[in-house]
Amino acid sequence: MDPKAVKSDLVLILDYGSQYTHLITRRIRSLSVFSLCISGTSPLSTITSLNPKVVILSGGPHSVHSLDSPSFPSGFIEWVCSNGVFVLGICYGLQLLVQRLGGEVRVGEKQEYGRMEIEVGKNSGIFGGKMVGDRQIVWMSHGDEAAQLPKGFEVVARSQQGSVAAVEDRERRFYGLQYHPEVTHSPEGMETLRYFLSNICGVNPGWKMEDILDEEIKVIKGTVGTDDHVICALSGGVDSTVAATLVHKAIGDRLHCVFVDNGLLRYKERERVMETFERDLHLPVTCVDARDQFLSKLKGVVDPEMKRKIIGKEFIAIFDAFAQDLGNKLGKKPAYLVQGTLYPDVIESCPPPGTGRNHSHTIKSHHNVGGLPKDMKLKLIEPLKLLFKDEVRKLGKILNVPEPFLKRHPFPGPGLAVRVLGDVTEGNALDILRQVDEIFIQSIKDAGLYDSIWQAFAVFLPVKSVGVQGDQRTHSHVVALRAVTSQDGMTADWYNFEHKFLDDVARKICNSVRGVNRVVQDITSKPPSTIEWE
Ligand code: XMP
Repeated sequence: MDPKAVKSDLVLILDYGSQYTHLITRRIRSLSVFSLCISGTSPLSTITSLNPKVVILSGGPHSVHSLDSPSFPSGFIEWVCSNGVFVLGICYGLQLLVQRLGGEVRVGEKQEYGRMEIEVGKNSGIFGGKMVGDRQIVWMSHGDEAAQLPKGFEVVARSQQGSVAAVEDRERRFYGLQYHPEVTHSPEGMETLRYFLSNICGVNPGWKMEDILDEEIKVIKGTVGTDDHVICALSGGVDSTVAATLVHKAIGDRLHCVFVDNGLLRYKERERVMETFERDLHLPVTCVDARDQFLSKLKGVVDPEMKRKIIGKEFIAIFDAFAQDLGNKLGKKPAYLVQGTLYPDVIESCPPPGTGRNHSHTIKSHHNVGGLPKDMKLKLIEPLKLLFKDEVRKLGKILNVPEPFLKRHPFPGPGLAVRVLGDVTEGNALDILRQVDEIFIQSIKDAGLYDSIWQAFAVFLPVKSVGVQGDQRTHSHVVALRAVTSQDGMTADWYNFEHKFLDDVARKICNSVRGVNRVVQDITSKPPSTIEWE
């Protein structure tokens, strides 16, 4: 999607490294206003070419007094003033605005972190002209504070301790909040953002997912030549499926998808996924049965990283062969590759200033099944690259991707290889794991818990323990159950099932899966553990 083609008014966020910056983008989008987030030190030409109606300067961990504190480019203030662009500084963004416009920021005597009460002290613009004296709870996080305001600014709210909580210069269209309106700990923050954007800036809340779809199809049709072919590796996950469905809508059967059965899939996964692709989505997909190829390479391998590397390499070989074959059949090499890259991947690949990391557009290897063969020279089509996961789900719904498919838990590229500890080819470990996993997941679905859990799965442990089944002593395998809640997979908490549920599941597993006589539950969060066991 070309950001410049977005018709509705753009709210551009300049990122100075706050952990909440992405949240501002999401909150604004949830108000049906399109917003984008770019580095706070982007050149002026990047900012002006996006033609934003509003610019928000994010918070960040810096002090405006440090030598390397990040800032907007020179000429920015002149440009916003002469183009009538509204500017809202949040936390560090407010301090930056104050300092760069000639005011003074003092290293905080009254550091304020966490929940605070503020009081509206003037008939303000940003609080919708609320009566003087109105109070609200907000989430603060600052050490420095605005001590002297630039000419034309006034304080419109103060904290209980008396420090500046909100400022504005209505004539020049500069606004600032010393707290985070985007977090839920600021209960009135969303309303403040909504009022600011609609009533003060006059932004039209007209952004909708259907526009993205139309726009995207237009862009793909305009990019891919009429006799060009496009390939896509489908993983059975939400992102690649939605991306492929969208591209298919734009160019029809010149899209060629491949799904690889690597022998590391869940119970009946291949059948289930192929059925969805063919029956529900009418997507032309080649299914490659590469079970032997993968499993023979994995024989005897116990090191988790080694497993990942082997699997990644095999994927590349298969993908390469698929592209070559297709080239031979069509008499023309495929020119494009579809990837389900999402906005957080793009943002993460462009770290904010001050993190010590450099800009790079490498997409996490997590997200593209093992990377790309170097000599394929395919151009990328990334139709979801400005969307968040929940937005992709909405888009998928419009594209008629079945709802249960859109709500599927994430599944790692290396599949069950990272859930069978040790050698995956040993005995019937994979088969046992598939059965246990299926019972666990089906029980979660039956209990109506599936959508409240980020990810649930079973793990095969290469240890045996003693048990007694049918009056016989047994020496059988132990399996572990893992279920976590999470927002984005970066941190996670273990899911607290009711005892009765766990009791039923453990009983069902031991009674119906041969070779298992003990079930344990993983009750660690991330950190210190990771979600997957390997
Ligand atoms: P961890 O285990 O690192 O996982 O806490 C975080 C999230 O990422 C998924 N994951 C992967 N996804 N390829 C993927 O496509 C991988 O190699 C991979 N490793 C972990 C994991 O399932 C969880 O949702």
